[in-house]
Amino acid sequence: MKTDIQTSPLRTILVTGGCGFIGSNFIRYLLTESGFSGCVVNVDKLTYAGNPESLADIQERFQDRYRFIRADICDRDAVRDVFRRHGISAVCHFAAESHVDRSIVAPDAFIKTNVEGTFTLLEVAREHAQSFELFHHVSTDEVYGSLGPDGYFTEETAYRPNSPYSASKAASDHLVRAYGETYGLPVTISNCSNNYGPYQFPEKLIPLMILHAVEGKPLPVYGRGLNVRDWLYVTDHCRAVWEVMRRGRRGRVYNVGGRCEMANIDTVNRICDLVDEILPDSPLRPRRQLITFVKDRPGHDLRYAIDCSRIEKELDWRPQESFESGIRKTIRWYLDHREWIDRVRSGEYQAWVQQHYGQV
Ligand code: NAD
Ligand code: DAU
Repeated sequence: MKTDIQTSPLRTILVTGGCGFIGSNFIRYLLTESGFSGCVVNVDKLTYAGNPESLADIQERFQDRYRFIRADICDRDAVRDVFRRHGISAVCHFAAESHVDRSIVAPDAFIKTNVEGTFTLLEVAREHAQSFELFHHVSTDEVYGSLGPDGYFTEETAYRPNSPYSASKAASDHLVRAYGETYGLPVTISNCSNNYGPYQFPEKLIPLMILHAVEGKPLPVYGRGLNVRDWLYVTDHCRAVWEVMRRGRRGRVYNVGGRCEMANIDTVNRICDLVDEILPDSPLRPRRQLITFVKDRPGHDLRYAIDCSRIEKELDWRPQESFESGIRKTIRWYLDHREWIDRVRSGEYQAWVQQHYGQV
């Protein structure tokens, strides 16, 4: 694989899954903060997790530089059409089924989108090899499996995925790497830890806990709440992805993390205390009393912790947000965006909550 450092011009970027949590934050970052002057084409299937309203203001403001196309990344003709019509020169691939609990109940969509969808994108990129600049694949630390109390995931850690979700992401990482090695496709991969921030679908720990704490509903903590996650504010992840795309060595993997390990129970306690502080007159205080320990997730990974020294050294990337500042911003965002929340919580979301949490 090629490993030269490049500062790429990257003119027209296809962002997949741009209506999801990180993808929408990435497009917002790219067009409003990064200094990028090219065009963005957002291809999203709009599953339950995709919401074009998350980018309504961007659509309005960047009519000449932003285009949304509803399509499935598994549909090769549709992807070919996007490449041809929009002169795609780079891909930033976020589209995925992303929720571990769903992958345990219904893995099919994970294999389809995460494996076959990535394969389809790679094949179409390969058809455009002459003019193609970069395929950046957004992946997860979960491909490395679970850590004990010590140690970190480095880019050399062997893959050991434990859920259908992480296994499907691992498969997609291997495909991306293989297309770099075999066909010389310019590729980069980033493996990131747990993100939180605005526009995250409220099935994931942090937004679920914020909303339930505000509404006085039980806070379902799996097992004893001792599993550890390494939290990163979403904009810090977006900056990392962009730095890798701009300046990362082609063919290289970059781990991204917050150096912010927290046991789930501590994360939930902190959210309870902050919501109490922000809403001091509420009769629901203290919200820690809402915490309910529930049945553990099968195959629940104990601990994730990222060694991100490579991206720090090579690309001078560091998180700008601490957990304290990031979680305050996030709680404030969920308090101020009631309409967005009500809309994404309707329909299939309700059915899933019923099935998964029963009457919680
Ligand atoms: P998300 O579930 O919020 O969004 C996924 C988006 O992909 C949605 O808009 C959905 O409609 C779209 N999508 C799903 N299937 C599709 C298909 N077949 N064709 C086109 N679009 C499709 O996910 P997220 O949390 O924003 O994660 C984005 C990416 O980042 C994923 O690849 C995930 O594995 C990775 N990642 C997430 C985290 C995290 O903490 N959320 C951490 C590290 C890596
Ligand atoms: O590490 C990166 C990964 O982080 C991403 O690849 C995934 O797409 C993303 O969903 C996330 O996976 P997790 O399984 O770590 O995130 P989740 O928010 O589902 O859960 C975080 C922790 O909280 C985990 O240990 C399970 C626990 N949990 C989760 C939920 C939803 C609870 O205790 N109660 C809950 O209700």
